[in-house]
Amino acid sequence: YSNYKENNIWGKHCCSAHSYRLAPKHHFPNQFEDVYNATRWFLRQDVLDECGVDPERVGISGTSSGGNLAAAVAQQLLDDPDVKIKLRTQSLMYPALQSLDMDLPSYRENAHFPPLSRSFGVRILSEYFTTDRSLEKAMLFNQHVPVESSHLFQYVNWSSLLPEKFKKGQFYNSPTLGFLDVRASPLLADDRKLHRLPLTYIITCQHDVLRDDGFMYASRLRNAGVRVTHNHVEDGFHRILSYHEFKIGHRTQNQYLNWLSENL
Ligand SMILES: *[C@@H]1O[C@H](CO)[C@@H](O)[C@H](O)[C@H]1NC(C)=O
Ligand SMILES: *[C@@H]1O[C@H](CO)[C@@H](O)[C@H](O)[C@H]1NC(C)=O
Repeated sequence: YSNYKENNIWGKHCCSAHSYRLAPKHHFPNQFEDVYNATRWFLRQDVLDECGVDPERVGISGTSSGGNLAAAVAQQLLDDPDVKIKLRTQSLMYPALQSLDMDLPSYRENAHFPPLSRSFGVRILSEYFTTDRSLEKAMLFNQHVPVESSHLFQYVNWSSLLPEKFKKGQFYNSPTLGFLDVRASPLLADDRKLHRLPLTYIITCQHDVLRDDGFMYASRLRNAGVRVTHNHVEDGFHRILSYHEFKIGHRTQNQYLNWLSENL
C-alpha cells in the first residue's frame, strides 16, 4: 500500500521524479490518473530518447497498491490510441487487484498477520475511494457490492481460480452487495483485455491478505493466454521486498532481478 505514504513514481531512475496524489487526502481515480499520465508521458519517443531508454525494453512494476496501479495502467494502455510504444513487461509484487471481495481465503487466514492485517487493508482500500467510514464498515462485513453488479463475482470465484490447498474444502459463495471500476480492480477486466497484456511477473506471499488477488490474476492471465511467471513465496509475508535484512527478502529480490535480466 505504498500509495498511502509519500512515494515517488520514478524514484531516481529517470530524468525527473514526481509524487502522485495520495490517500487519504485524495481519492480514486486521482492516483490512477497521475500514474497513467506520467506513464504516457514517459512512453513518448522524445522522452525515452532523452532518458536513454530503449523503447523495446520498457517494463512497469509496482508493489502492493503500486502493483494495483501498474496492473491498471498496463490494461488501460492497451486501448490508448496515442501511445505507440508498448510495454514489454509488467511486474506485480503482492499487488492489490480487487476490492470486490474482502473475505477471500487469504483474507481469512492472514487477518492478523503483520505487517498488513485485514482490518488495516480494508481501511486503506476504503480510503482509496472515500473518506466516508461507512464504506470501510460495509467492506469489513463484505457487504459492499450492489446486487446489480453480482455478475462480476465470477472474476473472483476462488472455487475455480485458486489451488485446492487454499480452499480447505470450502466453496465460493459470492457476497451480495459495492462498486466497481476496472481501473481500481484490474482483476475484473474481461479475458479479451487480459489476453493482450505483456509478459508478466507476479510475486505472491503465503502469509499475506493480498495473496489470493495475485494468485487469481495469475490464473486469469494464464487462462487468457498471457505468459506469466508466478513466484509464490511459501514463507513470505506482505512487503517482503522491503525487508532486505531478511534472507527471504534478499532471495526474492534476486529471483526477480534474474527474471528481469532474462526478459526485459
Ligand atoms: C492527464 O492528461 C490529460 C491529457 O493530457 C489531461 O487532460 C488531464 O488533465 C491529465 N490529468 C491529470 C490528473 O493530470
Ligand atoms: C464458482 O465456480 C464454481 C466451479 O467452477 C462453480 O460451480 C460456481 O457456480 C461458481 N460460483 C459463482 C458464485 O460464480
